[in-house]
Amino acid sequence: MLFKFTIIDQYQPLLSHFKGNEFITFTYFNSYNKTFTFALVNFEGSLNNKLPQIGPSIFSVMSGLANEHKAINLAQGFPDFDCTPDLKKLVSKAMENGFNQYAPMPGIMALREKIAIKTENAYTAIYHPETEITVMPGATLGIYATIAALIKDNDEVIIIEPAYDSYIPAVELAGGKAIVYEMAFPEYKIDWNQLKKLFNIKTKMIIINTPHNPTGTILSSEDIKKLEKLVENTDTLILSDEVYEHIIFDGYEHQSVARYPKLANRSIIVSSFGKTYHTTGWKMGYVLAPANITVKIRKVYQFMAFAANTPIQFAYTEILDRADLFNELGQFYQNKRDFFRQAIKNSKFKLHPCNGSYFQLLGYDKISDLNDLEMARHLTIENKLASIPVSAFYKRKTDHKVLRFCFAKSEDTLSKAAEILCKL
Ligand SMILES: Cc1ncc(COP(=O)(O)O)c(C=O)c1O
Repeated sequence: MLFKFTIIDQYQPLLSHFKGNEFITFTYFNSYNKTFTFALVNFEGSLNNKLPQIGPSIFSVMSGLANEHKAINLAQGFPDFDCTPDLKKLVSKAMENGFNQYAPMPGIMALREKIAIKTENAYTAIYHPETEITVMPGATLGIYATIAALIKDNDEVIIIEPAYDSYIPAVELAGGKAIVYEMAFPEYKIDWNQLKKLFNIKTKMIIINTPHNPTGTILSSEDIKKLEKLVENTDTLILSDEVYEHIIFDGYEHQSVARYPKLANRSIIVSSFGKTYHTTGWKMGYVLAPANITVKIRKVYQFMAFAANTPIQFAYTEILDRADLFNELGQFYQNKRDFFRQAIKNSKFKLHPCNGSYFQLLGYDKISDLNDLEMARHLTIENKLASIPVSAFYKRKTDHKVLRFCFAKSEDTLSKAAEILCKL
């Protein structure tokens, strides 16, 4: 029997062996180290290519390389330690109690109420659980649903680079145009007067992210006030990616746009339980926005996922009572940051400041002339330490010879990584 199927990412490396429409058999090693043989054939019709510039993400590429070369993986942004056992028990409890069917589209009400209380306590902003809070399967989906709902053909969206990689594809898939602003290097600060020059009548949205991935910088209240001035008397919306809201150091306060009423009424805030509770694999986040914006986002979201995982929502509802867990998160990661920075302080790498998130940028211009992608590959293959080249966070692949290292790892992992870095 002949099967026709499209080729999925994991088979891409094999495509070099593929000849026209012939059937060829391959032996493929799957992740359980079993082998199987299959026939591969291409679809013969014409295919749309909606993201022609985009290949597999740098995170998958570097993690794949790390696995292949048995390298320490400080590339991907997730913890190598577990969440609190209480949270796992709460998920099991919800499953045992029969909460295994669809949740309401905007999320279970008890969870939305808890999110409302937490947001009010933290930022003195009141979001109505009925109409202004929507729970979704991850912040990435929150970002995507927001952009899909609010951006149309030829709308312009300002993106501040380096930037999380989902923003531009989401804008382009919605038919919008990503207008890129690159933060000044090496401080990674926003010059609001420069940024203002990109604004025009077509500017429908600006995306901000604080604490910031990949740079570890944070926006100050002065930044937010400048943003407020910039969007005054315009129809520009703000998409504020605040997934690292609790991972902020050195006594700084997170400047959520929720704190600023004039901004909050034109802002969509996205947060992620994955980052806050060391549960990135559970993919759960939420979106806060004024009711008339939320209506538009929900209209689109209901056809994307419809609802997020039910037992996990019940678990987060209960764990949100433990304010200590998110209030102590900043100190927890600050200790990790300090441990890692201390361990590499005598290396030849340049340590960029890090006031939030769990990423440390390291400049290597005193060590190598390689471009950052080559350097990241070299470090992974030859030195067994994986990182992310920061050029991957720029549309133009701007290379300042800087690599991103994730320090959401055990001290043992960080020590081993530091030992490697100090030898270079
Ligand atoms: C800035 C930023 N936004 C959003 C996300 C995605 O969060 P989630 O896993 O909840 O989709 C990440 C994850 O790395 C991130 O770094």
